Amino acid sequence: ADATEQSTTAAEFVVVANRLPVDLERAPDGTQRWTQSPGGLVSALEPFLRSRKGAWVGWPGVPDVEVDAFTDDGLILHPVTLSSAEVRDYYEGFSNATLWPLYHDVVERPVFDRSWWESYVRVNRRFAEASAAVAGNGATVWVQDYQLQLVPSMLRELRPDLRIGFFLHIPFPPVELFMQLPWRAEIVRGLIGADLVGFHRPGGAQNFLWLARQLIGLEPSRGAVGVRSRPGMVQVGGRTVRVGAFPISIDAAGFDSIARSRPVIERAKQIRGELGNPQTVLLGVDRLDYTKGIDLRLQALHELLQEGRVKPEDVTFVQLATPSRERVEHYQRMRSEIEQMVGRINGEFARVGHPVVHYLHQSVNRTELAAFYSAADVMVVTPLRDGMNLVCKEYVACRHDLGGALVLSEFAGAAAELSSAFLVNPHDLDGVKNALEAAITLDPAEGRRRMRALRRQVLTHDVDRWARSFLEALGAEPSA
Ligand code: ADP
Ligand code: F6P
Repeated sequence: ADATEQSTTAAEFVVVANRLPVDLERAPDGTQRWTQSPGGLVSALEPFLRSRKGAWVGWPGVPDVEVDAFTDDGLILHPVTLSSAEVRDYYEGFSNATLWPLYHDVVERPVFDRSWWESYVRVNRRFAEASAAVAGNGATVWVQDYQLQLVPSMLRELRPDLRIGFFLHIPFPPVELFMQLPWRAEIVRGLIGADLVGFHRPGGAQNFLWLARQLIGLEPSRGAVGVRSRPGMVQVGGRTVRVGAFPISIDAAGFDSIARSRPVIERAKQIRGELGNPQTVLLGVDRLDYTKGIDLRLQALHELLQEGRVKPEDVTFVQLATPSRERVEHYQRMRSEIEQMVGRINGEFARVGHPVVHYLHQSVNRTELAAFYSAADVMVVTPLRDGMNLVCKEYVACRHDLGGALVLSEFAGAAAELSSAFLVNPHDLDGVKNALEAAITLDPAEGRRRMRALRRQVLTHDVDRWARSFLEALGAEPSA
């Protein structure tokens, strides 16, 4: 962020998300700086919103800071303050130890804690009030993700003049799992305050419609929901709420052009050199999250090495893992398991100066990331459950050379669009091993054919199209 001027103008278009697109970082010497926030939501929305000069309401990523609104590259940022207790109970607790595991197929056991719920309600109200204060008369407010599911109804009560959209960036769970939640009806009532509720996949929309009937007695439409078309409808009093599927994407042209730039091409070569020019570079890029299946891919690699199906002198695996939610116990446990596995594989198969696995618990910038994508022969994306997964789309957008192969979990939302990848069931370790081996030994002509098909999909379905299709369905954009 560059400028820091106060802004008071009422906005026509407002995004509300748990995080601002930039995080405040405090160094031990007391200095502060803004850095890009982690995760797919910010990667997807930021380029779109910058081009609209809207406002963004969100948390600056650290507790107990009061920051005035400021303008960053045309975007007006409105920080919402969270106390340390709220970060613990609303963010780490209810959002990331209750909703996150519940919505991701209960991969870890969700914790149901009443005081966390109370904090979630309180913080959602604060976000609703902050948004109500920023939005101009009749403005469009687009509420994002699972941390803010009560905001649509709270905001509607405060400001009935607004057009309100809600988009869920993570999977919406099967109804049998959602029904575990002690506050299930409250969540459905919170979401139904929007004019349009959007999910990645039609299945999520369909689940939500069923719950609206079962939990709050509404009468939803019965037809099948399509992708970007045929939204479901529910009458709530005099209002019609639409419920649809809008698969999110990336700034595909941006990644394509950065990957074609001289510095990225040079850096990709340099990365391969620094890795010792192995025959095959495998790559994983994730937030360090237990839903991402990082352990499974390490286990698959370990067994392939033990069975001699891949040779340690031929193959190098690079795992870039952004630190994430480090105070949540599920995350601490998974991190130590992964780090043990990396140590075990290198202990058995590395030679001095040549580790088989390079594990970086770090975030890298966009240019460096594009260079890693360009350098990788096989991109390994194996989540147990993922709403969409943008990493696989970024990889494809970077492969203008038609090189590389993508191994992708069927349980990522992106699998529905990327059928030319090597699709795997991450629970089937033999299947993952076979797919890795097939990708490593892929015939180049077949590889090009697959990559061409993947690129056709990703380059024509970018984040701009996603946002426009959502906003059109919301009635906030003229239809194309
Ligand atoms: P999620 O939203 O669950 O984090 P996504 O795959 O949808 O997962 O989005 C992750 C985003 O974070 C992508 O834009 C990806 O480029 C970025 N990212 C993930 N790991 C790293 C890393 N180590 N360094 C830099 N960016 C990363
Ligand atoms: O949609 C995935 C998501 O949870 C976003 O909501 C979030 O901002 C991002 O991943 C990163 O997670 P966090 O904000 O908890 O660091």
